[in-house]
Amino acid sequence: MLHFPVLLEESIDFLIHDINGYYIDCTFGRGGHSKQILKMISKNGFLSAIDKDPESISFASNIKDLNFKIFHNSYKNLEKYFKNETVDGLLYDLGTCSTHFDNAERGFSFNKDGPLDMRFDNTRGITLSEWINDAPEEEIVDVLFKYGDERHARLIANRICSERKENLILRTVQLADIINEKYPEKRKKIHPATKSFQAFRIFLNKELEELSLSLDAAKKILKPKGVIVTIAFHSLEDNIIKNSFKPSFKSFPKDIPLNNIEEKKFTCIAKKIRPSADEIKKNTRSRSALMRVFQKI
Ligand SMILES: C[S@@+](CC[C@H](N)C(=O)[O-])C[C@H]1O[C@@H](n2cnc3c(N)ncnc32)[C@H](O)[C@@H]1O
Repeated sequence: MLHFPVLLEESIDFLIHDINGYYIDCTFGRGGHSKQILKMISKNGFLSAIDKDPESISFASNIKDLNFKIFHNSYKNLEKYFKNETVDGLLYDLGTCSTHFDNAERGFSFNKDGPLDMRFDNTRGITLSEWINDAPEEEIVDVLFKYGDERHARLIANRICSERKENLILRTVQLADIINEKYPEKRKKIHPATKSFQAFRIFLNKELEELSLSLDAAKKILKPKGVIVTIAFHSLEDNIIKNSFKPSFKSFPKDIPLNNIEEKKFTCIAKKIRPSADEIKKNTRSRSALMRVFQKI
């Protein structure tokens, strides 16, 4: 299946305010947003893109525009590449591509049997399988509570730890079955492993920490009047975004003038923009998307 870019027109309309500007797509994915940005900017404009996933980097080789460049890295390292630049806009379309779930070998889907990997960047770091066969039970409980809001975290972690004494947990469907087997609520719509898989993915890929670091870097390299467009897919991401731009005056010592504080330099120019009913009908994955746009004053 293809990946359909979410809130495509809405996000690009906010992002591009100068066709000769310099933009960064922090989550290239399958290039849905990047291609649209390249259509909108002039030859004097420039687009850099980033993605953690090596498949996205290979996919980007289809783009031949001379004013485009892609980097294989985490967006948390924005400053490494762009510290001497100032940019007009950055886009974050967070989470996974549909293609991550479609390819069983990537280990994101509990419906498709594959190795229990789940890394966006499968060239480094440990797989979910390596972590889950070794992590202390309490850590598994914490991850399930914190990133999945899973009320049966203790039960699931306990099942995982008993099972791994008998057999190493190596496959996605094996893990989904372990969660499903004694899950107290057999929900009609949502598979019992949904929240756990989300929690493990967020934890393993350090999604929230990296987003927070990246937004801090983005604020520094953005020009005045430049914008940061974010599309979040769950409340944990959205909270990081909102808090990142919320001035927490109370926590600053009195002798720091407020106009020196980075957060104070931003205004929210669009909040809680959701896909239209039509878009949700065409692409059900878009139903939980929430877009916010912040502009540097
Ligand atoms: C929802 S997809 C983006 C889809 C893209 N806008 C499109 O239309 O094709 C999110 C992408 O972000 C990437 N990603 C996730 N965490 C990342 C990180 N910390 N740094 C860079 N890329 C990341 C994933 O690999 C994935 O390709």
